[in-house]
Amino acid sequence: MTSILNWVRVSELSDISPDTGTLRVIVDSEAICLYRLEDGSIHATQDRCTHGNASLAEGYIDGGLIECPLHQGCFDIRTGEAVTAPCKVPIKVYAVRVEDDVIYLSGVSAQ
Ligand code: FES
Repeated sequence: MTSILNWVRVSELSDISPDTGTLRVIVDSEAICLYRLEDGSIHATQDRCTHGNASLAEGYIDGGLIECPLHQGCFDIRTGEAVTAPCKVPIKVYAVRVEDDVIYLSGVSAQ
């Protein structure tokens, strides 16, 4: 059995919309966006765009990128790098682990 010490349970795979591939969750006051990419991999970043007040969970996944719904800037979902203007500041990326369809994150405050 694998230890889940330092990992925070945040959601289940089935909670991520099959239509958008995203899910916004709040963990200890932090808004986080979960992603399911076409290859089935699960990722997590901060939800708020670094350019303005927009929720990336309302954006559009394009391959491994998330396009912000407000000004269409893009971030690399895996690394958090801002890859297209007007975004310049990277977003925070969280480590993700999935066990028995439950999604755990590391790097967020414990509940
Ligand atoms: Fe996201 Fe402007 S608020 S690109």
